[in-house]
Amino acid sequence: MGSQNLDESLLRRTARSLRSAERIVIFTGAGVSAESGIGTFRDDDGLWSRFPPEEFAQLDGLMGVAMNEPGRAAEFFLALLEPMARAQPNAGHRAIAALEKHKRVTVITQNVDGLHEAAGSSRVLTVHGRMFETVNADGSRRGTVSRDEVIAMVEALRPLCRPSVDFAELMTAVAPLIGFTEAGLYRPNIVLFGESLCEPDWRYAVVAAECSDFFLSVGTSATVYPAAGLPVSAKRAGATVVAIDPLPVANTPWLAGAAGEILPALIKEAFES
Ligand code: OAD
Repeated sequence: MGSQNLDESLLRRTARSLRSAERIVIFTGAGVSAESGIGTFRDDDGLWSRFPPEEFAQLDGLMGVAMNEPGRAAEFFLALLEPMARAQPNAGHRAIAALEKHKRVTVITQNVDGLHEAAGSSRVLTVHGRMFETVNADGSRRGTVSRDEVIAMVEALRPLCRPSVDFAELMTAVAPLIGFTEAGLYRPNIVLFGESLCEPDWRYAVVAAECSDFFLSVGTSATVYPAAGLPVSAKRAGATVVAIDPLPVANTPWLAGAAGEILPALIKEAFES
């Protein structure tokens, strides 16, 4: 994954737009965390290629797998949590955070990994939620899960990835994140398929996109709505919209390459040249 196809002229023009912009939105997807070791969803080896989202990205489907095939559910939780448990922000997250030295920036992320905040970004709208926050059945906030607890969960899940495991063993392993109380199911504060986006972040994200004059889309296939509509809204409102992705992006000027290479290059070009 390199930047051999990078359009240098587009990089310079994008840097000029960034330098003169006043209302900047950075919109990120799984690709911005790929260099932190967290796989994407829809690349060839992505999470959804191993665990179909029709089953694993819906609460009913996921609980059905947990009850009928607990070992398979353990494999899914392990695949989901292990990379996030150990991930650190990469050069892309750090470049986005460093942009705040020059400009006021709103980050809108579809990611649930907390890496923008860990890198130091101060205005992050998490429209698909946060993995390590938990909510009660009525949507009220329950608490947060520490990195140590996540690592312990990962270690507890590892031996459960076998057909003979039972539901109770699985639920004990994931108890810091998911479980039952008298009030019902508590779970991570993330948006599953068919659920509404997180508020008030989503409302603010719509306004930020519509009011932006520079909108940079980083590492997203922009296929999951309504978040995928944000670049369209920004463009319609007159913003300069540019994408960063190793794969071609349709209908948008596109800087080809990895976020961890292109973002630092763009910010250097905008503010240090
Ligand atoms: P996808 O997996 O759909 O897309 C990831 C994008 O990142 C692709 O366009 C990749 O080419 C690109 N990519 C890969 N490596 C990269 C790198 N190093 N630098 C930059 N880009 C890179 O992930 P999302 O678009 O985030 O939602 O998916 C959107 C939503 O679908 C997720 O938030 C999640 C998922 O289902 C829910 O679960 C609600």
